[in-house]
Amino acid sequence: MTQRTPLTIAVVGATGVVGQTMIQVLTEREFPLRELRLLASGRSAGRTVSVGGRTIEVGEAVPEAFAGVDIALFSAGGTVSEDLAPAAVARGATVIDNSNAWRMTPGVPLVVSQVNPDDAGTHEGIIANPNCSTMQLVPVLMALRDSVGLERVIVDTYQSVSGTGADAITELEGQVRAHVEGSAAENTVYPHPIAFNAVPEIDIFLPNGYSREEWKVVQESRKILHLPDLRISATAVRIPVFVSHSEAVHVETRAAITPDEARTLFAAVPGVVVQDDPANHVYPLATEAAGRDEVFVGRVRRDESIPDGRGLAFWVVSDNLRKGAATNAVEIAELIAARGWIPRASERAGAA
Ligand SMILES: NC(=O)c1ccc[n+]([C@@H]2O[C@H](COP(=O)([O-])OP(=O)(O)OC[C@H]3O[C@@H](n4cnc5c(N)ncnc54)[C@H](OP(=O)(O)O)[C@@H]3O)[C@@H](O)[C@H]2O)c1
Repeated sequence: MTQRTPLTIAVVGATGVVGQTMIQVLTEREFPLRELRLLASGRSAGRTVSVGGRTIEVGEAVPEAFAGVDIALFSAGGTVSEDLAPAAVARGATVIDNSNAWRMTPGVPLVVSQVNPDDAGTHEGIIANPNCSTMQLVPVLMALRDSVGLERVIVDTYQSVSGTGADAITELEGQVRAHVEGSAAENTVYPHPIAFNAVPEIDIFLPNGYSREEWKVVQESRKILHLPDLRISATAVRIPVFVSHSEAVHVETRAAITPDEARTLFAAVPGVVVQDDPANHVYPLATEAAGRDEVFVGRVRRDESIPDGRGLAFWVVSDNLRKGAATNAVEIAELIAARGWIPRASERAGAA
């Protein structure tokens, strides 16, 4: 099988914002498709979706729906992934899962395409796609890990509402409209109004006081970067932006590094773009990153609180629906197709 061998791809959660972006990315990249099977809950079964001029009917995501599927891109929440990913694998599909269900499971590779592609080769049926906040952080951290070493990382996120899904986009739009009309704002998705606000609660709170979103950044970064003891802490904040997450990152490195050296290293990472000319108001912006596949980094400066030139501060922005979810999932699909890794590792010829 080569990368261009047409494959049967299932998108689970095809009616959601990530699922819709997956369909768009597959189409834009002209992923060679034998069949595109769109799956969602029973609520949406029978609906039709237009894909590149063709109309495709949405089916219900049930175990039998995965017969004949080569790769299943899951984006329908953790419970659906827990229930159905093993059923898809049992029918011969390789699952690329966008939920939190399998990311930290030992033996399940957690892959960012330009950071740890080789990890995908060990899969036994499921490959996990990281959380969107982790996704845009690790390509930049990789550049520092491989040059001057990472001592400690602090990341504070400014996350868009599309990271929560379609209902949250509707909620922000409704609250903005209510504000303009002078009527009362309603909130059902978030615990507080999100319009004109900054809410430091993403996902549930854990016994250690972190939100689960913050803890995902900690654990997933360690796994992807192969740095299990990395000292890293995060604060995750939801803000009233529709698309793209922004992150303020402070890094203590092992060896000294100048901002100019860091910019050169960042720009050399595939898929990373340096936008850094503050005097001319040039730095990454959520609005400009939306719709793009790259990770944008700027405001690179010395962190003056760290001695010996070992501190850096910078700003990282990326479209959470594209690189943060759909694009990386499709890149993993392209990677495993190109390298002949679609059967599980133990089933490949020559496997022990
Ligand atoms: N949004 C992001 O930036 C982002 C980034 C990384 C990861 N993710 C993850 O991606 C997943 C989906 O997120 P989203 O933002 O696309 O959410 P969303 O817009 O709310 O869409 C949810 C999708 O899941 C489907 N679904 C719900 N229950 C189902 C069930 N029982 N069986 C089959 N399908 C079911 C829905 O289908 P119906 O139309 O039938 O309800 C819909 O297609 C979540 O796991 C999320 O954590 C999201």
